[in-house]
Amino acid sequence: MKILAIETSCDETAAAVVEDGMKILSSVVASSTAMHEKYGGIVPEIASREQLKVIIPVIKETLEEAKLSISDIDQIAVTIGPGLIGSLLIGVETAKAIAFATKKPLIPVNHVIAHMYANFLSPSQTIEFPAVSLVVSGGHTELFLMESEKKLTWLGGTLDDAAGEAFDKTARLLGSANGGGAAIEKAAKKFVAHDSSFDVKLPRPLLHDNSLKFSFSGLKTAVVREWNKQEQHNETITNAFAHEIQEAITDVLVAKTIRAAHQYQAKSILIGGGVAANTRLRDKLIAHSSSFRICVPPVSLCTDNAAYIASYAFFKGKPLDWHDITALPDLSVEKNI
Ligand code: KG4
Ligand code: ZN
Repeated sequence: MKILAIETSCDETAAAVVEDGMKILSSVVASSTAMHEKYGGIVPEIASREQLKVIIPVIKETLEEAKLSISDIDQIAVTIGPGLIGSLLIGVETAKAIAFATKKPLIPVNHVIAHMYANFLSPSQTIEFPAVSLVVSGGHTELFLMESEKKLTWLGGTLDDAAGEAFDKTARLLGSANGGGAAIEKAAKKFVAHDSSFDVKLPRPLLHDNSLKFSFSGLKTAVVREWNKQEQHNETITNAFAHEIQEAITDVLVAKTIRAAHQYQAKSILIGGGVAANTRLRDKLIAHSSSFRICVPPVSLCTDNAAYIASYAFFKGKPLDWHDITALPDLSVEKNI
């Protein structure tokens, strides 16, 4: 079964062809990130205009890379939400047009839930069920119980900001306009503990609370307060802040994930979403390998791409008549999974 998937939930325009949910035949991602740099964040209008220009070339390149024509494809899958309405519409309407023209089944996909299916794309990785899955992206911090490829239950999420949002907003404060979590990770790597007497301790919100809820807005406020207290903002201080921000966020993410894994007697732990690219998060989870099988997708499959959209569609998707498929920017990740 070959699925052509399209993903345009944020500023990326992505397409991929995946065979039987696990084998990537091709995957292309075009991003307009550089164009948003001077505005210090993603401008939805710029994103969707760029996506309109590149969506057809991206799909064409994806088919060429897989050495396939559209007639070789069995099903089409597309992200319908959550995400930016203008961006989602480009992918959804293109996918509907292809499904109509080729009479192929069309599968609507929730992109946040689909993130965890990046774990099925590594041939060397075996997932034992039940598994607990942490999805951490720019707008979401969610824990799921996965009893099989098909059976998912939402366990908890953030009460306010997502982990990625905390990375993005604090990165901007530290002077890295669009670098987000990747910029914090890079600066944190340069931190040398004995280099400075500077020692900021940030809060770990809800770390000791027994629930599977997260909260990151207080952490962001604490960073602003501590940052404004500093007389100077040189590289040593910036790196020290980046280090402590990364430690605080990853401490909470790991503690809650491990708590959920014990609570639900999970055999495996999966991670997905852009923040799952973070090396410190991966290492802190891998430290629990004696108790759980820790599954981490390759970094390139953590941030937005269409390969995991196709994998989700294969394992869990249901085709719908194209007339009934529409972009849903506020699509829930808690219900109807
Ligand atoms: O899944 P994704 O590509 O897009 C959304 O669906 O939101 O996730 C983007 C998020 C951003 O918040 C970005 O700062 C974060 O993933 N991110 C990282 C790293 N790379 C991307 N966070 C921490 N460390 C990284 N290396
Ligand atoms: Zn995403």
